[in-house]
Amino acid sequence: MVMSGYLEAPLRNDLLLEDKTVVFSTGAALQATTGSKLYSEEQWLFWAQKLQKTLHEARYEHCVRVAGEAACLAGSFGLDKTRACLAGLLHDVARDICFETLFAYAERYNIMVGPEERSNPIILHADVGAALLRHEWAIDDEEVLKAIALHTVASPNMDNFCQVIYLADIIEPGRQEWPGLQELRKLSYENLDQAMLWSLQESFAYLKECGTFIHPRAQAAYDYLIRKLKAGKC
Ligand SMILES: [Fe+2]
Ligand SMILES: [Fe+2]
Repeated sequence: MVMSGYLEAPLRNDLLLEDKTVVFSTGAALQATTGSKLYSEEQWLFWAQKLQKTLHEARYEHCVRVAGEAACLAGSFGLDKTRACLAGLLHDVARDICFETLFAYAERYNIMVGPEERSNPIILHADVGAALLRHEWAIDDEEVLKAIALHTVASPNMDNFCQVIYLADIIEPGRQEWPGLQELRKLSYENLDQAMLWSLQESFAYLKECGTFIHPRAQAAYDYLIRKLKAGKC
């Protein structure tokens, strides 16, 4: 299984994702994607341009694809497409920050750094990203911030919105193929809990293959979903 990496796709600022188009050249198409005027074209453009300056090109394009996927997935479960789009767009805002700076931000914003974060600092980008968006980008949507904070390690207390962002990150159309990706894409649009369970199982197998630990919060998320499944609730 490949848990990261993107296809060499001719995706720049213009993306066609099945029933939706995300074009950041004006911000207008993104607004059309979500079908909402919660944020103005200028606001979308501001966020997109700021993010573009923050990330490497391939990462920025990944974020745009996650935004589109998240809007679509959220829409299929009756969730807020606009805010899912925003969470998808900004989820990796801290992903290109060096480890030293991630630790510095973690200290500044009182983010817990355990042995898992010390041995694999990149996982801090989720919590640090949410903190940066709160304190330095003036994003105050708690649901968006929570989904961003949980998009890497997961957690037992993920609601549908958080699950949408977690899964959209994995199934966005630029992801490198791995056996099971197409099925996970299909399952994500059918049952979020079961898709989460599958994706956690796959990531555990991948981590085992790499000889890397499983984060206790990811294990707790998995155990929670197994209990829910056994109780016939997912
Ligand atoms: Fe990420
Ligand atoms: Fe991502």
